[in-house]
Amino acid sequence: MSPINVVVNGALGKMGREVVKAVCSDPDLKLVGAVEAKVTGNSLPLPDGSGTVPFSADLDGIVTATHPDVLVDFTVAQACMPAARIAVKRGVNLVIGTTGLTTDDIKEIERLAKASKVGVVVAPNFALGAILMIHLAKIAAKYMDSAEIIELHHNQKADSPSGTALATAKAMAAARGKPFRLSPQQSKAAEARGKSIDEIAIHSIRLPGLMAHQEVLLGGQGQTLSIRHDTINRECYMPGVIIAIKEVVNRKGLTFGLDTLLGL
Ligand SMILES: NC(=O)c1ccc[n+]([C@@H]2O[C@H](COP(=O)([O-])OP(=O)(O)OC[C@H]3O[C@@H](n4cnc5c(N)ncnc54)[C@H](O)[C@@H]3O)[C@@H](O)[C@H]2O)c1
Repeated sequence: MSPINVVVNGALGKMGREVVKAVCSDPDLKLVGAVEAKVTGNSLPLPDGSGTVPFSADLDGIVTATHPDVLVDFTVAQACMPAARIAVKRGVNLVIGTTGLTTDDIKEIERLAKASKVGVVVAPNFALGAILMIHLAKIAAKYMDSAEIIELHHNQKADSPSGTALATAKAMAAARGKPFRLSPQQSKAAEARGKSIDEIAIHSIRLPGLMAHQEVLLGGQGQTLSIRHDTINRECYMPGVIIAIKEVVNRKGLTFGLDTLLGL
């Protein structure tokens, strides 16, 4: 079987560099080009020193020259949408990890993908452990009456609570189908009891030294249950990204979320 040809957009970013390494380490995938706003030349050396691939700030030029099967985008929302339009127009499947896309952006991507009959995977979180944590929390939410979330991140993180914590709370509330039981003191000491989302208090910790961590704590009669996920480094996202690259070539239209891709 011939390898899946991949171009990485945002190739010099923190995530882009990891994706370049992960693609080059997988025998079923082949990096054929790289795109980056802060381009440093017209070729990007492969991480194992075995050669170079075409490198440019001109996404359309790279896609036209290298005919990839999949474009992987880890850039910024403002750059991701123009890239998505170009890729879809050229019939290239897309894996998008960039966060900050609006509901309208997602709708547009879905429309374009359908019209051009390409596959697009958009996943705000590619860490398999985080996806499993949410899945397990959804199961537990049906059986335990109270829940709180502690999310801990590095102190450069712009948003609080994290998108993953918000998504977890919303998914748990939907899975439960009835309100969680609040502690009696919740409303009296609101400033000390976290942000309440669907009767789940979310506590956000921001400290240097942390990466991304989340603990879902559930309480019931005479017992608690904790479900915790810790990331050690950005490699945690790569198994999910690789699964998405291999799957997207066999799917048409939009697949939103790694959970959907995994059939969870
Ligand atoms: N889905 C996930 O699991 C996941 C995990 C981590 C980060 N992210 C998201 O991925 C994105 C990138 O994160 P990061 O930590 O690598 O950021 P980063 O700032 O290190 O990298 C972004 C890269 O994109 C490049 N870029 C910006 N505009 C561009 C353009 N027009 N064309 C080409 N390249 C352009 C930048 O120069 C930079 O090198 C963010 O949106 C982040 O929130 C998603």
